[in-house]
Amino acid sequence: MTETKVLISEQQVMEKVAELAATLKEEYRDKHPLAIGILKGSFVFMADLIRMMGIPIEIEFVGLSSYGKGATESAGKIKLVQPLKTPVKGRHVLVIEDIVDTGLTLRFLLDYLKRKKPASLKLCALLDKPSRRKIDVPIDYLGFTVPNIFIVGYGLDWDERFRYLRDVCFVEV
Ligand code: IMP
Ligand code: MG
Repeated sequence: MTETKVLISEQQVMEKVAELAATLKEEYRDKHPLAIGILKGSFVFMADLIRMMGIPIEIEFVGLSSYGKGATESAGKIKLVQPLKTPVKGRHVLVIEDIVDTGLTLRFLLDYLKRKKPASLKLCALLDKPSRRKIDVPIDYLGFTVPNIFIVGYGLDWDERFRYLRDVCFVEV
């Protein structure tokens, strides 16, 4: 059995998400933003965030893969496995991500989106693991900074396990 331990409790997470949502609500009121979630890890965070924002918002998802099955180290190569279906030209785009680790995934996606000429392009990430950064990525709205440990729960997985956990937890690998 793999043990998981709580790093950030459900209550702490929900308080932080409410705080982020309040800021985003002011920023995006009347802008009809397009929120782009990165599959699969961001789906729980995104679901809570957009409901707490409580303003009209459009939802899209992209699938990017950087981790092999079972691996905890980024392969370094990013693949667009599920492309965008909504045009982003002239839209206020808010990318929603679970965790920024090496930054390679986000750098790839932000460059890809920028070429499509959105009206604005910002990043909201629940977690930041800056000790592992390989490439600079500006995080406009951030929940928590975490140490260099492998995080699971609240949407994040370890080999497709533990996404359902309500707290942000970690595993020892
Ligand atoms: P990056 O390209 O190295 O920044 O990796 C980003 C992606 O790797 C995230 O969207 C996550 O899906 C995954 N990832 C990075 N660190 C963790 C972790 O600690 N737990 C679970 N997934 C992670
Ligand atoms: Mg992810």
